[in-house]
Amino acid sequence: MAVGGDSAGLQTVIALDELRTMRERFRRAGESVAFVPTMGALHDGHLRLVLEGKRLADRVIVSIFVNPLQFGPTEDFSRYPRTMKADIEKLATVHADAVFLPNTSTMYPEGHQTVIRNKLLDGELCGAFRPGHFEGVLTVVMKLFNMVQPDIAVFGKKDYQQWRLIETMARDLNHAVRVVGVPTIREQDGLAMSSRNRYLTEEQRPVAAKIHAGLTAVQKLYVSGNRDQGDLLRAWRTVADSVAEFQGKYAEVRRQRD
Ligand code: PAJ
Repeated sequence: MAVGGDSAGLQTVIALDELRTMRERFRRAGESVAFVPTMGALHDGHLRLVLEGKRLADRVIVSIFVNPLQFGPTEDFSRYPRTMKADIEKLATVHADAVFLPNTSTMYPEGHQTVIRNKLLDGELCGAFRPGHFEGVLTVVMKLFNMVQPDIAVFGKKDYQQWRLIETMARDLNHAVRVVGVPTIREQDGLAMSSRNRYLTEEQRPVAAKIHAGLTAVQKLYVSGNRDQGDLLRAWRTVADSVAEFQGKYAEVRRQRD
């Protein structure tokens, strides 16, 4: 691993002043910067975001930081997969320009108090099941935006609520960054790629694919012209209930803003 060095054109940056120097170099050269924040354990979904960044800007900076602020006390912070060496190799294959690996002390200096919260959407949908989660996400993403100062930031629509909250934050707080969403990259059976899929056992793996099967059933009904919320939810439930092991947290029908 080339920490602090250069691996096939991929610069590894840990210190904030080094990041700022690099950012200033890009600015002086008139190069635009796309930014892809991640928590590592990278897969093809993440790499697709990097490729989108490359399409939209001259340089792509990726960050890897497992953000303690967005994990609840009973969540998987300590066992979240950390695969730094493999991550850096993958980023080199898609020609990312730099990977920023901030320390926790850079991210959360002693006595850190300031957080960012969306008053409306913080406690809805996934937020209702993960108190403080989106506050942790928005706070770390804003801090990363301030450090990297990207022209464009790329997020996955897999985490749809997260993407929308970040878009809204950038608008509400007058940040100059343009927030872009990328379609979900899936496994062959439709399961969305995720760093957490590695937690699934062999038995759980096909059960997880039912999420996509259920959503596809809803989509089919919707495209056929049915707009009845009850019917749409029933289409979901029919698929979900067809597998005894499937334990969904919630299903809701919502209208997209635009
Ligand atoms: P992480 O789960 O590592 O995801 C980083 C980015 O990759 C997010 O924008 C996520 O939506 C996107 N992504 C993950 N799987 C994807 C897939 N299958 N297809 C398309 N995009 C995918 O999301 C986070 O980290 C954190 O909350 C973060 C924003 C970095 C803040 O800590």
